[in-house]
Amino acid sequence: MAVGTVLVTGGTGYIGSFTSLALLENGYEVVIVDNLYNSSKVVLDRIELICGKRPAFYEVDVTDEAGLDEVFAKHPEIDSVIHFAALKAVGESGEIPLEYYNVNVGGGIALLRSMKRANVPNIVFSSSATVYGDATRVPNMIPIPEECPIGPTNTYGRTKVMIETVITDHVEAERNRCKKAGQPYERWNGALLRYFNPCGAHPSGIMGEDPQGVPYNLLPLLGKVATGDRKNLLVFGDDYASKDGTAIRDYIHVLDLANGHLAALDYLQEHKPGVRAWNLGSGRGSTVFEMIKAFSKVVGHDLPYTVVERRQGDVLDLTARPARANEELKWRTKLTLENACADLWRWVENNPQGYRQDPPAEFVEA
Ligand code: NAD
Ligand code: WQD
Repeated sequence: MAVGTVLVTGGTGYIGSFTSLALLENGYEVVIVDNLYNSSKVVLDRIELICGKRPAFYEVDVTDEAGLDEVFAKHPEIDSVIHFAALKAVGESGEIPLEYYNVNVGGGIALLRSMKRANVPNIVFSSSATVYGDATRVPNMIPIPEECPIGPTNTYGRTKVMIETVITDHVEAERNRCKKAGQPYERWNGALLRYFNPCGAHPSGIMGEDPQGVPYNLLPLLGKVATGDRKNLLVFGDDYASKDGTAIRDYIHVLDLANGHLAALDYLQEHKPGVRAWNLGSGRGSTVFEMIKAFSKVVGHDLPYTVVERRQGDVLDLTARPARANEELKWRTKLTLENACADLWRWVENNPQGYRQDPPAEFVEA
């Protein structure tokens, strides 16, 4: 029997696909809604090749309340939602803010309204370390605990803070409404998962990150340099106050991150905390130069780079203090940076065209 049925918005995207896989591998049923804006349906085949189960899929926009209502009506067994669907390019968010507010905030509200009508009480939300902004502005906040004051420095980050607030108010209101009506109010819960820097791919080499446009994150760009699609990596600044002058981030393997969602679902079911935030990071910071070195090692040769000016809006250090997730969710990262680099390289080498490439024969024949 299924442990539960989870609606996964944005489930064909990078983190959503790995979380859908982890849910299926752990006995959940999965229903995905995604408008395929930044993903491909091929990922459903890959999930099935890996675990032998296929999620239900609906091509629905998360801002389309009627479309969401139909999915909930078709699947009355859904008891929780993991909400990934969003636009996520920091630079672009400052250029087309209305699109970002519409999808990220409007989409989140549409989803909560539809969940309310369907009486689905649990939501796990993809938030981001970016909500903290520059944590070095506050004394003693590196590594960053959940208590660090919020202070996003870009439109994307502000959309995440807004929807965190909307979820918090909504859950509190539903709890109050149920209390007044003498109904079980503890059912309504939300997890705000603040991811640090997700990276890596499936160790099989058949599932990974496949953004539709030009990548802008460090690891996918290093992948492009390794395959020769890019001449070199531009290192954004070597004048930061770090050991080698480059900025520090907390890189977390996407398989570990996916498991964090299952841990959060379990926690909501068991502890019914209302709304609570957790940092999902390793607690270990790495500089850009360290990442170039680690990835070069698995590729087998030095990858070329050029140091240029700092990128606007970048901060010195985003390293998580993951103690709350370690203790409460009983979750911690298990995989190393070396695992992430090796898995990413296997994915990039096997699939230079991402999901447009056929999987290796052994998977098809297996
Ligand atoms: P992704 O782009 O790979 O996945 C997002 C998915 O949402 C895509 O499949 C896309 O097609 C879908 N989508 C976009 N707009 C939609 C809409 N209007 N209706 C329905 N589906 C829509 O991104 P990801 O890296 O997997 O990120 C997932 C979530 O995690 C996002 O909310 C993102 O903001 C958050 N997050 C990501 C990172 C990161 O570095 N990747 C870090 C912190 C937080
Ligand atoms: C990592 C480091 C760059 C590219 C972003 C979002 C954040 C979250 C994760 C969604 C930084 C340096 C990068 C390059 C470089 N996403 N770099 N050359 O900026 O930490 O976080 O993605 O929530 O919100 O802001 O990730 O991978 O872009 O950069 O030197 O070509 O690599 O300066 O220090 P970032 P990133």
